[in-house]
Amino acid sequence: MRNEVAVHEAEVKHGPAPAGSNIYWHAGKVTAAHRHRYFGHVPGTIWLTGLSGAGKSTLAYELEKLLLERGHPSFVLDGDNVRHRLNRDLGFSTDDRRENIRRTAEVARLMNEAGLFVVTAFISPLREDRKAARDIIGAERFVEAHVSTCMTVCESRDPKGLYARARAGEIAHFTGVSAPYEPPENPDVTVDTGAMSIDEATRALYEHLIPRLG
Ligand code: ADX
Repeated sequence: MRNEVAVHEAEVKHGPAPAGSNIYWHAGKVTAAHRHRYFGHVPGTIWLTGLSGAGKSTLAYELEKLLLERGHPSFVLDGDNVRHRLNRDLGFSTDDRRENIRRTAEVARLMNEAGLFVVTAFISPLREDRKAARDIIGAERFVEAHVSTCMTVCESRDPKGLYARARAGEIAHFTGVSAPYEPPENPDVTVDTGAMSIDEATRALYEHLIPRLG
């Protein structure tokens, strides 16, 4: 017989099972409290958003290294890398970007459940999609970080030569050139790699996580 209380608790925490699917949540024996004791931190996801060339990936990998050196298991989900495998079927239309963010947020959620810190590096240009990521991951675990490096600096860096190709009309829907970027209205933390060194910016991100690291 179904344990209605257990079903209700699972629904509150994990959302309802797909309608008519006949599938049921199976709770494990290791709780979030166990994992907290084991890892010594409350996991979360720091979501880096900003233009291409803003420095998101560089900062994400620096922060991952710093967290690991301080004893906090963590992992980077990077847009270019995730698009190599899990999201290789997605392009840069509005719908594909939304799906890119949705899947990534679900992976981040799983990694947080496993006890890891997650650092994401995705342009994630639309507020609505970032809000969806926050809802999937859980507001209490989600830290929005705006890598606010301006367009002029990003375009002058152009590390992959993509801005030049977008300006030449060779790449469609390029963020900042022919597709929108909506900056966060109320980010938890902002870093500008045009004005700060990578070390300073990494440290600013890290400091924002300190309350979770105890
Ligand atoms: S997102 O908009 O869906 O969040 P994501 O961060 O995964 O983008 O991927 C961005 C990376 O894809 C950029 O750093 C760049 O290297 C590459 N790229 C290729 N085409 C585009 C495009 N049309 N707009 C933006 N980035 C693109």
